[in-house]
Amino acid sequence: MGKVHLQDIDSKDKKTEFSLVRVKGTWKCKLAKKVNKDTADCVSDAKIFESNTEKGTTWTVVSPIVFTYKVTESRGLLDPSNDTLLFGHITDPQQLEDFKKSIKPVKRFVVVDQEVYKIYGPKLTDYLEVNNVLYKILALPTTEENKSMEMALKILEEVNNFSLDRRTEPIIAIGGGVCLDIVGLASSLYRRRTPYIRVPTTLLSYIDASVGAKTGVNFANCKNKLGAYIPPTAAFLDLSFIQTVPRRHISNGLAEMLKMALMKHLGLFELLEEHGRMLLDTKFQVDNSVYAHSCLQAASRATNIAITTMLEELAPNLWEDDLNRLVDFGHLISPALEMKVLPSLLHGEAVNIDMSYMVYVSKESGLLTEEEKQKIINCMVGLELPVWHESCTMELIQKSLQDRLKHSGGLVRMPLPVGLGQAEIFNDTSCEILCRAYEKWCDELSIPSDKQK
Ligand SMILES: NC(=O)c1ccc[n+]([C@@H]2O[C@H](COP(=O)([O-])OP(=O)(O)OC[C@H]3O[C@@H](n4cnc5c(N)ncnc54)[C@H](O)[C@@H]3O)[C@@H](O)[C@H]2O)c1
Ligand SMILES: [Zn+2]
Repeated sequence: MGKVHLQDIDSKDKKTEFSLVRVKGTWKCKLAKKVNKDTADCVSDAKIFESNTEKGTTWTVVSPIVFTYKVTESRGLLDPSNDTLLFGHITDPQQLEDFKKSIKPVKRFVVVDQEVYKIYGPKLTDYLEVNNVLYKILALPTTEENKSMEMALKILEEVNNFSLDRRTEPIIAIGGGVCLDIVGLASSLYRRRTPYIRVPTTLLSYIDASVGAKTGVNFANCKNKLGAYIPPTAAFLDLSFIQTVPRRHISNGLAEMLKMALMKHLGLFELLEEHGRMLLDTKFQVDNSVYAHSCLQAASRATNIAITTMLEELAPNLWEDDLNRLVDFGHLISPALEMKVLPSLLHGEAVNIDMSYMVYVSKESGLLTEEEKQKIINCMVGLELPVWHESCTMELIQKSLQDRLKHSGGLVRMPLPVGLGQAEIFNDTSCEILCRAYEKWCDELSIPSDKQK
């Protein structure tokens, strides 16, 4: 959906502009030029433009919708004395007080990844019991292969049986990106939009899937083909969940972090170069070693920068109207690759393979020096991320770029690093460069198939 500029509407054809003013409980159209927003009692931000031809009337409605959501870090989210999970999404202090004073029990529907439930189920149950919550926990195998409409409908059936007040009882999703994406979509469908809360339990979802507005499920063999841009009312982030995430999944999350570093933050890149291995070893937790302090600092600095840089890119472009998006780096070829080899590559791994190839494209385009290219590849290897894959063929690359061309207004819009920690978007990378980069990429990084993961 493109942005509508009021002046455009007014000037191109003869239209009458109306403001909407509330008069005794009803809304009335009033000629916009006669309404003074500063003095009138209640004027909506919405507008209605009316034009009349011999065929009839056209009403053009401009109705701005504002999304407000919180991304809150909170250690000890499942500590019974921490009420963030139950009330942290409420922004109005009066409403918060009313809720806390109310004798009506708090009611929550919680969807949790089955594997997460195995580890944190007792703590979660205890948390809800101690806080007298009327609850239903639905533990589901929310894997990439199950990321489907069927799973979303299964959740919706249970939500419907539980019967929620959609204004005051947000659905809570606890798990990795898959769980958060499915529950987000289900919530956006239930009664047209039921608020939901994201609690990420993997590194990737902590810094990426929790921060933005996208929900989705796979469909017709395509990643996230069905989905909505409906942000959660809040995302509550607790790094301690990450301690039980398998090592490979830490690397997986580091790939999305590296994406932000390469696109726009040299400091984050240097931090990953220097401390990436330690973050991987400690799983972003404070250990008891002499490095404990620097460990904590590096972990919170890295996650903080990753989230801030991500929010900077997302907040002004929540519905992705602007197709020039740096956050798409690593996401041009990876969706097709990820679906092609499912389940052997994780999301971040596929993203990293895409980024690794693009680094070669940058180098061949004269945007990166050989030394910078090598630094980036070394950093990727240090984070234990794959930098090449035999299924990432030139054919797959070309097909992905053609698909992109179709869905992106006739331009490929390829974000490429131009030096370390900065990037630009290019539309004119030639086939020759793409092929030359591919050859070099394979020459330098391909590994015999018997040594691959
Ligand atoms: N909405 C968005 O903006 C957005 C952004 C990035 C990625 N995504 C989506 O996120 C998905 C990938 O997310 P992911 O990497 O979190 O994968 P995931 O949800 O599949 O979780 C990875 C694995 O870790 C397990 N797990 C989760 N938390 C754990 C914990 N604390 N301890 C032990 N095991 C745990 C899960 O059971 C699963 O096996 C993809 O489907 C991708 O499309 C969405
Ligand atoms: Zn991604």
